[in-house]
Amino acid sequence: MLSDSMFGLTVPVGARGVNSLVSGETMSDASVASILVVDDDKRSLLAVQELLRGPGRNLVLAKSGEEALRCMLKDDFAVILLDVRMPGLDGFQTAKLIRERERSRYTPIIFLTGVSEDVDSIFRGYQAGAVDYIVKPLVPEVLKSKISVFVELYAKNAALIGEIAGRKQTEQRLRESEEKLRALAVHLQTVREEEQIRISREIHDQLGQTLTGLKMDLTWLAGRLPADQGPLKEKTESMFGLIDNTIHSVRRIASGMRPEALDEAGLAAAIGWQARDFQLRTGIRCKVDLPQDSNGLDPDRATAVFRIFQEVLTNVARHANATRVDVAMRLDADRLALEVRDNGKGIPGADIHSPKSLGLLGMRERALPFDGRIEISSAPGEGTQVMVSIPLYQDRAPARGIP
Ligand SMILES: Nc1ncnc2c1ncn2[C@@H]1O[C@H](COP(=O)(O)OP(=O)(O)OP(=O)(O)O)[C@@H](O)[C@H]1O
Ligand SMILES: [Mg+2]
Repeated sequence: MLSDSMFGLTVPVGARGVNSLVSGETMSDASVASILVVDDDKRSLLAVQELLRGPGRNLVLAKSGEEALRCMLKDDFAVILLDVRMPGLDGFQTAKLIRERERSRYTPIIFLTGVSEDVDSIFRGYQAGAVDYIVKPLVPEVLKSKISVFVELYAKNAALIGEIAGRKQTEQRLRESEEKLRALAVHLQTVREEEQIRISREIHDQLGQTLTGLKMDLTWLAGRLPADQGPLKEKTESMFGLIDNTIHSVRRIASGMRPEALDEAGLAAAIGWQARDFQLRTGIRCKVDLPQDSNGLDPDRATAVFRIFQEVLTNVARHANATRVDVAMRLDADRLALEVRDNGKGIPGADIHSPKSLGLLGMRERALPFDGRIEISSAPGEGTQVMVSIPLYQDRAPARGIP
């Protein structure tokens, strides 16, 4: 048991008496470091309180081990100053119980021991999880500086925890904003696709029908021209040519926006059509290996893969300097795979993952809502290989864009 003489201190009792705190009143503000002082001698408690009080500190006093444990339930402490000799639970038993609790497993404990304590009890203290000892009578400067170290450590730890929480919050916000942007991109793509379907149908149907009507009228007119009207006949022939060319252009513009084959004959047919068109326009030989039937594929996946394929071919035409392209599509029970290989100059390594490669980025974004993958491999002078792999079923619903 401690006594005033053991402390060797005569410090005036503060305005806040020991009883106002020993009842377990605690503060839980992380910016305030709580210090728990446990001693069965009331005057010693008050003396230590006076010595250690200061801004940013909350002194909690307990007169017994049992009371200290009750305080531990309510607050986290920067450090515990624990008297070894106390009636009831002694310091070692109290420390052991403190250590057994998850919340206070690592709270630093400083034992207060008398000069008469032997080495054996000091060793027991270590086993009980002490981090330090102070031998009584206390030297105020030693006590103050030791406590300051732990208070500072606690403040740094609290600041670190705050920083980590802040970072986690920022990360969460970033993740949310990334998800929103992705949903927006999917939404914009869906809107664009729907708009293209609508415009291409309108061009095809409206202009196509009008031109067909015009051609029928012209046929009617040409049939009624007198046989001796040579120049007029020639004019109608040239008009026939113009109408046919316009019909052809209308079809080309409409299919360029959204090929009919994609909606009517399925993805494999649309890829075949696009490959033939590509070969015709560029002169680059395009060999395809496609499944017989891809009609069961859902329209969203079909559109995504088709648009990826179009971007791959556009890149070959614009950058590859290739003479040959090989296209292979495979439709398994649970996965669609498309491989496009050219024999061109290859993609410069830095371009493959560059944030400036918006075409390649767009391809990846197209696959992402379906948990799909795009792998691009290339070596200088050895062409480029693009592998698209899209699962046909997903655990989670695909991102459908902004509702
Ligand atoms: N098949 C290819 N062969 C050689 N280089 C390629 C090939 N595909 C892409 N590249 C290179 O990768 C770069 C990035 O391609 P990406 O499609 O992202 O952009 P882009 O075609 O230049 O522009 P856009 O945004 O209009 O598509 C290209 O600039 C080109 O240098
Ligand atoms: Mg491109």
